[in-house]
Amino acid sequence: MVSLHTYTHTHAPRAKRKRYEEIREDWEKEYGPQRFSYKDLYKATEGFKDKALLGSGGFGNVYRGTLLKSKVEVAIKRVSHESTQGTKEFVAEIASLGKLRHRNMVPLQGYCRRSGELLLVYDYMSNGSLDKYLFTNERLKLSWTQRCKILQGVASALVYLHEEWEQVVLHRDVKASNVLLDADFNGRLGDFGLARLYDHGEIPQSTHVVGTLGYLAPELTRTGKATTMTDVFAFGAFMLEVACGRRPVVQQELPEKMILVDWVHDCWRKGSILETSDPSLGDDYVMEHMELVLKLGLLCSHLSPDARPSMRHVLHCLEGEAFLYEQALEGFPTDSASAATLVIGDDSSSVAASNASSLPQSCSVHTTLPSGR
Ligand SMILES: Nc1ncnc2c1ncn2[C@@H]1O[C@H](COP(=O)(O)OP(=O)(O)OP(=O)(O)O)[C@@H](O)[C@H]1O
Ligand SMILES: [Mg+2]
Repeated sequence: MVSLHTYTHTHAPRAKRKRYEEIREDWEKEYGPQRFSYKDLYKATEGFKDKALLGSGGFGNVYRGTLLKSKVEVAIKRVSHESTQGTKEFVAEIASLGKLRHRNMVPLQGYCRRSGELLLVYDYMSNGSLDKYLFTNERLKLSWTQRCKILQGVASALVYLHEEWEQVVLHRDVKASNVLLDADFNGRLGDFGLARLYDHGEIPQSTHVVGTLGYLAPELTRTGKATTMTDVFAFGAFMLEVACGRRPVVQQELPEKMILVDWVHDCWRKGSILETSDPSLGDDYVMEHMELVLKLGLLCSHLSPDARPSMRHVLHCLEGEAFLYEQALEGFPTDSASAATLVIGDDSSSVAASNASSLPQSCSVHTTLPSGR
């Protein structure tokens, strides 16, 4: 049974009742703690004023607010959603996503529903999204050590989603703008599972394939089916953007540099992969680590999903607990179907153990890189 819950005070003026109107159905009772009232969210953001706007994305606007009772700072995402069916499943999913807890994920606190829209309530991340540090001059540039820590953090969040939670959770939109930075500049993955909204109703501007250009695995654009390997592909594009300090596709670039992964691959072939490192870092990076990140980025971007490493292997490599063999490429197959096999070995003994905030101090990188790009 659907009920339009309005401002409960019976003598409340009509305009106020309308202002706080929301949709609440009986079956939602079980999600009680995760259900926010629209009135609380409205008050938290002082009426969703422009000055509370943090940014806008493909799904809608995100506002900053402070919950009046608890004084907790939140980021509220307003998503237009004209769903007539599937809402129940979607709310069940939100509730289940709300149980995900990992130090490198933005906690999802709950939701609210109104006619034609869904509101998602996340913890507020005081240092904003990573893209602003990488691609604009607005803020301070991040050091190489900070970037390595962020990459390791996001990789471990994806391992958690893919392998450690009770069911496999696909992120489906890994990219720098969906990585938020907390007060200590830890990278935290946000917007997890949100792309599932497309499966649960009509969203304006929806297309069959969900994700962002430049991060979409080729098989995803063909089949529309997301897998853990399509997340790995997007993570590969993400690693390259963190190392190179630019977006995966930049139309204004020279033709040979326009598509980041192709440019890095070309430079790798010519033996000059470090040329692609973010110029704003100057020489302030550890060469071996930069090479590792760039080559891992290429491996994750392999055209063939079978040749991509799992997120766990990626994390082990970033932490120095596994290594990649780089074999001679002479006589290498050039079509992607028979492309190079990736060999990853566990070798904690040969590589110095990493500390949490940086890549391993000594890491000989042996990679078999993808061919046939
Ligand atoms: N939890 C949060 N804490 C602080 N700022 C946030 C939070 N979530 C989002 N933001 C800010 O809001 C902006 C818009 O986020 P949004 O997710 O809508 O856009 P996007 O990530 O660029 O695109 P997409 O719709 O593909 O996710 C972000 O760039 C970020 O600056
Ligand atoms: Mg986002």
